[in-house]
Amino acid sequence: MMTEQMTSERQGILRGCMEPLLAWYRACGRDLPWRRTKDPYSIWVSEIMLQQTRVETVIPYYERFLASLPSVRDLAVCPDDRLMKLWEGLGYYSRVRHMREAASVIVSGHGGIFPHEPEILLTLPGIGRYTAGAIASIAFGVPVAAVDGNVLRMVSRLTADDRNILTDRMRRDTERVLTEEIERLSGKVREDERSVPGSINQGFMDLGSKICLAHGRPACGECPLEGQCAAHAAGTEEAYPVRPAKKKRKITERTVLLILEGDKVALKKRPDQGLLAGLYEYPAFDGTMTEKEAAEEASALGFVPGSIRKLPGAVHVFTHLEWHMTGYEIRALSVNTGKTAGNGVFLADVRDVEKRYAVPSAYRAYSELLSSSEERNT
Ligand code: ADE
Repeated sequence: MMTEQMTSERQGILRGCMEPLLAWYRACGRDLPWRRTKDPYSIWVSEIMLQQTRVETVIPYYERFLASLPSVRDLAVCPDDRLMKLWEGLGYYSRVRHMREAASVIVSGHGGIFPHEPEILLTLPGIGRYTAGAIASIAFGVPVAAVDGNVLRMVSRLTADDRNILTDRMRRDTERVLTEEIERLSGKVREDERSVPGSINQGFMDLGSKICLAHGRPACGECPLEGQCAAHAAGTEEAYPVRPAKKKRKITERTVLLILEGDKVALKKRPDQGLLAGLYEYPAFDGTMTEKEAAEEASALGFVPGSIRKLPGAVHVFTHLEWHMTGYEIRALSVNTGKTAGNGVFLADVRDVEKRYAVPSAYRAYSELLSSSEERNT
């Protein structure tokens, strides 16, 4: 079925939402570190971190990242391991690799000046339509919408729109209509026109995270748009947004080997491409191994296994994939370093792992066991 354009009646509802949303954001918007600046680099860093990560988690990372890399020029030349370390725990590491590529383009192609046009921002690695809209509107006051799944949910409720929010057409149509309404409002509220686009977009973000919730009942009694909301009027707010059922995540069984030799642990760098590219991990294999197979695998890597014990299992959920992990701790009697090196494995001081190597949070359960065994030994 073709998805039609938003009707003028629905657009009229959104028009009526703009002023109350702006007033509410000005009175009740969250005080967040990236809202105290107009520096586009800082705002960009926050927007990339906030993709798939909660505000409370992002705040300390944001502050540490900017203290360490205060300008786009610093980011452009930051070495890989340092960059991974700054990002460790946030996940989705390709985000920060793309950021560094984009920083190089800004330095070499734009004289280090952050572009403000959404069309130019869109040409930079890692910047999609939402992020381009967010940076342009918040940092530069460009009247453009920033539409993500949260905004689509709110718009579908406000306008009781049962179109599938996962289609590109629906997203672009919403972007077009909201951009028109932001332009209209900016023209109307002239005295501080430059802050209107960013305030509307961030008003939607706050409304989506505090009131018009994705999971659980929306808090309509506290919503500044309660009187405008078509779904609320019909008592059907929980029927929106409409989207087809999600595909099931693929499940992969993994076996993780925590191989210890004295106060050292075996690590391996992951390939430069694909999932968790370029990060460090404990030797790990697809499939579920028995104790005997795990010991054989450790020998094949170049270790002479002494004791072996099974560790608690762990699950890590990625967007499209789940790792169901079995772990073994293997104490090695000796190491054939030629053989380990041939397998890309090296020994790191247990006390250094956390400081020096970006081990993804997928392995958190095993990293925690490692640091607790280190504490016991000190
Ligand atoms: N999520 C994405 N961008 C945000 C922002 N600027 N403020 C709060 N939450 C956000």
